[in-house]
Amino acid sequence: MHPQQESYIIRRKRKADLGQFMTPATVARFMASLFPASPLQNCSLLDAGAGMGALCGAFLHRWVTGGFGFASLDVTAYEVDDHLRERLARHLARYNNATSRIIPDDYIQLATAHGLRNQGYTHVILNPPYKKINSHSAHRLALRRVGIETVNLYSAFVALAVAETAPGGQIVAIIPRSFCNGPYYRPFRDFILARAAIRHMHLFASRNKPFKGDKVLQETIILRLERGGQQGPVMVSTSTDDSFADFAAHEHPFEQIVLPNASERLIHVPTTTAKSAIERLGAVGCSLADLGIQVSTGPVVDFRMKAHLRPMPEAGAVPLIYPFICARPGQYGL
Ligand SMILES: C[S@@+](CC[C@H](N)C(=O)[O-])C[C@H]1O[C@@H](n2cnc3c(N)ncnc32)[C@H](O)[C@@H]1O
Repeated sequence: MHPQQESYIIRRKRKADLGQFMTPATVARFMASLFPASPLQNCSLLDAGAGMGALCGAFLHRWVTGGFGFASLDVTAYEVDDHLRERLARHLARYNNATSRIIPDDYIQLATAHGLRNQGYTHVILNPPYKKINSHSAHRLALRRVGIETVNLYSAFVALAVAETAPGGQIVAIIPRSFCNGPYYRPFRDFILARAAIRHMHLFASRNKPFKGDKVLQETIILRLERGGQQGPVMVSTSTDDSFADFAAHEHPFEQIVLPNASERLIHVPTTTAKSAIERLGAVGCSLADLGIQVSTGPVVDFRMKAHLRPMPEAGAVPLIYPFICARPGQYGL
């Protein structure tokens, strides 16, 4: 194999192994702009999985251009990739009025080594690695030891960062939207909601736009959390892509984000102020799981269930619901 081809393959494998998707400059600037004005004199910033420093760099840029009133700023950046670390060091060196420390160790191993501890970070900015954590891996066991049950590196990083942040500290993270749903992320949702208030959520309407160069095909969300904050209304903004040309924002009551009575604690991201069909139906106060009902698609069809069909409702019977498509002539080949 040609050496250039070999080094390309090694780089690709490393990128996949370490979940490396770099934040574009426009998104990094937007994330730095989400931190509210702060009366603090001394800022302690964490960027775990800092890559080449796109995010801590955007934060520092806001500071040096007068966007924050801190008298001092101290950066803690974790990065395991030697090559990226060199570029990170060069990037941070440009801001010589800040102090910084680059830690070459695995963030998960280090943050779990002595139990969960408040490290006093006042601000956290994160684009963590995205990668599944296998059930018997060292990461999974280290996280379990400190009471974090989660299935992906990104949710592990956010949970650990929340735990390490000082009360009132602000955390801004760009992560896949998958944590909002599903039973696997339920412990993560519980962990976050017990320790932080959700202040802002930004949704990119297009799946691949925020990380154009990197073929990330997941829906991506930016979250701003406040450690120990009293939960209130949540600002929800949207844009198609990282140009933010069609940026729109609306405030929503928290009850529209996490339904009060739903046991799964799903996180809903409302993208319009109009009420959804479920909200308009005041009688819908619980999920199917709350009622002990599961959705079955495919195998349950009337012609295979003749013996179970009832001409009239009776105790223990449930409706068999037919999906159908309302189409205009010409649509769907009709
Ligand atoms: C999604 S990239 C984001 C990089 C940078 N924050 C940015 O926004 O451009 C995640 C970074 O985390 C690093 N990383 C992966 N696993 C790590 C670990 N266990 N500890 C520290 N850094 C890690 C990767 O090498 C990669 O640079």
